[in-house]
Amino acid sequence: MPTTWITVCDTCKRDGWEAGDMGQTDGERLAALVEAAAAGIADVRTRRVSCLMGCKRGCNVAIQGPGKLNYTLGEFEPESEAADGIVGYAALHAQSETGQVPYRNWPQAVKGHFVTRHPPLPDDDA
Ligand code: FES
Repeated sequence: MPTTWITVCDTCKRDGWEAGDMGQTDGERLAALVEAAAAGIADVRTRRVSCLMGCKRGCNVAIQGPGKLNYTLGEFEPESEAADGIVGYAALHAQSETGQVPYRNWPQAVKGHFVTRHPPLPDDDA
């Protein structure tokens, strides 16, 4: 199966971030949790980027695989429950031929967090 990539915005800051220790952004915290949760999961890889242009709805991630439906999700707390749900969803996305995952299989932690869906690009010679 092709790899499903989880792209985590590492510059996201949730409301109230300034009131914490500010040692890391919320995006960095979520990225570290996602990376730990994804370690050893077949066909799922992670990367960090700075800003997915959804700043008001952080923390944001994108879930993408070649030739598949791709998604952005937002409004995550930088917590293990969110990270585990994101990785669980990505593993199902990797197993899916089209990238579509039946709603009944969605991890609870991703429900209500989908922001956009991007249909796969047509083949150049189509
Ligand atoms: S800072 Fe995360 S989307 Fe802009």
